[in-house]
Amino acid sequence: MQILGICGSLRKGSLNMAALRACQELMPQGMTLRITRIDDLPLFNQDVFDAGIPEPAKRLRAEIAGADGVLIASPEYNFSVTAALKNAIDWASRPPNQSWQDKPVAIFSVTPGPLGGARVQYDLRRILGQIWAHVLPRPEVFIGNGPTKFTDGKLTDETTRKFLADQLTAFRPWIERMRVKT
Ligand SMILES: Cc1cc2nc3c(=O)[nH]c(=O)nc-3n(C[C@H](O)[C@H](O)[C@H](O)COP(=O)(O)O)c2cc1C
Repeated sequence: MQILGICGSLRKGSLNMAALRACQELMPQGMTLRITRIDDLPLFNQDVFDAGIPEPAKRLRAEIAGADGVLIASPEYNFSVTAALKNAIDWASRPPNQSWQDKPVAIFSVTPGPLGGARVQYDLRRILGQIWAHVLPRPEVFIGNGPTKFTDGKLTDETTRKFLADQLTAFRPWIERMRVKT
């Protein structure tokens, strides 16, 4: 199973990206995680889309469509989704062949505060649900007090690594369950 990783932060030192990288080591057998970029996408504009989808958006749409599942790691910005992540979701959401259709998705969030991004996750679920992506209901993973869980840019907190490993383990049967029967 090929999982596509998307990080909602564009920051070089992003804790969410660091946690996503840790997931590459935590993937269950038979599952691989490739992390894509969203920093090269222009701001969504329907005129631009209609004139010809820009290459980075074309690439992202194909990556999402071709993946067995998508793993999103994102911080919370002003109680909601980061602009970069929403922009990426929007580029991949427009017909024809919108990329999120029936796509299994798992989400987690890292924030420096204690809540770990509870609000961004529920907004993400609302957004992804309406474009027919299927977000793994449980286990939810909120990584609060983020900076204390990383050492030199690596996720070192064992309890947090276990939470992520458990989520990834649960993701596989969710992907199988959500497969569209043809
Ligand atoms: C514009 C902006 C808004 C933010 N709003 C929130 C917020 O609502 N809740 C929160 O927990 N953290 C908030 N933060 C802090 C981010 O969670 C923090 O910068 C986080 O480390 C970013 O994730 P990253 O390390 O992956 O870049 C905000 C940061 C920025 C830049």
